[in-house]
Amino acid sequence: MNTRSRVRAGAVAVVFALLAAGCTGGGAGGGGVQGTPGAAGLRDPMFPKLGNGGYDVSHYALTLSYDPASGRLDGRAEITARATQDLSAFNLDLDGLTVRGATVDGAPAAVNRAGNELTLRPRDDIDAGKRFVATVTYTGVPKTITDSDGSEEGWLKTADGAVAVGEPTGSMAWFPGNHHPSDKASYDITVTVPAGLQAVSNGVLSSERKSADGRTTTSVWHAAEPMASYLATLAIGHFDTSTTTATLGRAKVPVLTAADPSVAAKSAALRAKIPEILDWEQQNFGPYPFAAAGAIVERDGDLGYALETQGRPIFPASSFEEGTLVHELAHQWYGDSVTPASWKDIWLNEGFATYGEWLYEEDFQHTPAQKNFEKAFANDDAWAFPPAAPTSSEDLFSAPVYQRGAMVLHKIRQKVGDDVFYEILSGWPAKHRYGTATTEDFTKYAESVAGEDLSDVWKVWLYGDEKPDKP
Ligand code: TRP
Ligand code: ZN
Repeated sequence: MNTRSRVRAGAVAVVFALLAAGCTGGGAGGGGVQGTPGAAGLRDPMFPKLGNGGYDVSHYALTLSYDPASGRLDGRAEITARATQDLSAFNLDLDGLTVRGATVDGAPAAVNRAGNELTLRPRDDIDAGKRFVATVTYTGVPKTITDSDGSEEGWLKTADGAVAVGEPTGSMAWFPGNHHPSDKASYDITVTVPAGLQAVSNGVLSSERKSADGRTTTSVWHAAEPMASYLATLAIGHFDTSTTTATLGRAKVPVLTAADPSVAAKSAALRAKIPEILDWEQQNFGPYPFAAAGAIVERDGDLGYALETQGRPIFPASSFEEGTLVHELAHQWYGDSVTPASWKDIWLNEGFATYGEWLYEEDFQHTPAQKNFEKAFANDDAWAFPPAAPTSSEDLFSAPVYQRGAMVLHKIRQKVGDDVFYEILSGWPAKHRYGTATTEDFTKYAESVAGEDLSDVWKVWLYGDEKPDKP
């Protein structure tokens, strides 16, 4: 190429560059499109700042190391996500802990912290639709969070370790992420603890090995199916574990239970019953949604309530009784596989899991659901507000959500009959398997299966302020 034409080619390139800049408003970054910051919250009616806009997480790889003596957690979160807009920056939720650094696609990212909002500004903007990987390294003594209803969640220290539970907002106490139920992702949770202790989490244990110097043990847990972050759990301590296989229809599902040694013997018989209960549930609710099952049983005082952590619900020993086990396992379909799109839809979890208990009592304990319905109807606490309209975060786990939520299902059953009712019960988690859904999605779905208008049920039982004269 001669000098003259080289100059001309250069000039053409400059013109193109100027045109490109003009078209996009002078964008920075790789894609040449001007990005804007993702929203700092998803405007959840109960928790407006929970979650973040502008991206959708597909996978969390958490690498954690915990020292029970000092209470210190060292973590690295690798978050694989897709941008849903041109992004100049985006937020992650994190409560407490100290961030040491962050990268996006391997390049250092600027980090800003304002309370529970962590802002990562990548060197280059991220184009809408593009997949990216963000890493955050962090350290500190994780917090226990006290909710507005007085219950404790987040990171709870125990005599020999810790447990992590996250409903509704506690998961941000142990890893940064998009902590809203509407953004579900798969997880790999790798945990290193002093030798002699164990770390139990969600999904399948894919490896467990001692370090070369014998001082630590590292466990890798793989949860393949989409999971809301509030359903992630981690229990560190001494455990008696036991494994078996549940035959659930055509599926064989590994069942791993872990119990604190002090409660292992007295929880053993009920732990052994998990395959049977899951079998009854899959006959009524449809195929079991996950590759692993089980339970974690801790001492009383280690945590305040049972939680339906995905694949492997967690219990304080005194809550580990048949009804609550049926309830937490029912959540695997209602809550874990189909997850509420927002926290005000929580009755889709609790109403269904409670009705699961009523059905179990009907089939095994000679108590017709009608009896439980009448009992719930007579409970004045259940009428404080309509189940589909909790007014504050204090309401989320109270009687109207559980009892009146279950009453809604019983009214549908009375109206459509058992055949159609069971079709709705099993069809709902099939339709939204691994997804999220709203109350409206449910009412529309129930009507479409029933082939009739059910607005009387919704008006009075789901949304109504007044208690009807009779059940
Ligand atoms: N969702 C749990 C269950 O019903 C219980 C739960 C979570 C809870 N957070 C709570 C109960 C706060 C009371 C208070 O299985
Ligand atoms: Zn529940």
